[in-house]
Amino acid sequence: MKKVAIIGAGNVGATTAYFIAKQRIADIVLIDVVEGMPQSKAEDFLHAGPLQRYNVAITGSNNYEALRDADVVVHTAGIPRKPGMDRLDLMKTNAGIAKTAGQAIGEFAPNAVVIAVANPLDIIALALLRETGFALRNIVGMAGILDSTRFRYFIAEELGVKPEDVSATVLGGHGDSMVPLARYSSVGGVPLTELLDADTIERLVQRTRTGGGEIVNYLKTGSAFYAPGASVAQMVAAIVLNRRRLVTASAYLRGEYGHRGIFFGVPVILGKNGVERIIELDLTDEERAALDLSAEQVREASNNLDMLLA
Ligand code: LAC
Repeated sequence: MKKVAIIGAGNVGATTAYFIAKQRIADIVLIDVVEGMPQSKAEDFLHAGPLQRYNVAITGSNNYEALRDADVVVHTAGIPRKPGMDRLDLMKTNAGIAKTAGQAIGEFAPNAVVIAVANPLDIIALALLRETGFALRNIVGMAGILDSTRFRYFIAEELGVKPEDVSATVLGGHGDSMVPLARYSSVGGVPLTELLDADTIERLVQRTRTGGGEIVNYLKTGSAFYAPGASVAQMVAAIVLNRRRLVTASAYLRGEYGHRGIFFGVPVILGKNGVERIIELDLTDEERAALDLSAEQVREASNNLDMLLA
């Protein structure tokens, strides 16, 4: 069995562990600074084992040494958004946490693929790249699957069809400027643009952009964790089982889509090394302009990272 280490055993970390265990994808270690917390969650999980038949090992630790020999490291540690906050407002605190975690990953799990989940996710991925010293393809950010599963759900709800039959593409940074692409979304192979009028599509696009914020506004004390946890579990499975799935994820760009030096949501093939390949799509002028705007926001925030990590 492969080993996945989850840094941060809060709502996102624990829910990710749940989905991984349910699908028997890998052994799990939960790591958190809060004393007793990851241990309690691991033990509680195990107590459900006779009912749930996970068949994977789950442990908890307060020590980064527990990262040793992990095949995949999921970085969820950090503070979540509260109502009125932008994901970028979390940057100072969460970049500091990513710095310590990145160095520990580099030391104890030098062969791992790292999935950045804590926000602002595209910037945290860059921090983890710098602090681990890993190859570019070994670091990948989560959000594309999350943003597109939300878009898929909203499309399915609108049309009254089975959500699994909907496939959707959302590019760009994981923020309000993300770019849901109706032309690259379909239901049972039929393009979305054949099924819904432009105004309806625009409404679903906007709801996708603010889908995370919608949850924050309900919850008030934090952000979403079921859909994020399910999204991370799918990425972990793609990597440890080398499924080579074509999904959107935040990958380091070296000129693709006209941008370089940032982590940005693009279609990738996800396999045992992380980002096996980045796929470039033909875009209309309008789609490209929206993507450039999103990239500009990610770049501006990425530039601030130098100052925070110095
Ligand atoms: C969301 C947060 C976790 O989109 O970024 O729900």
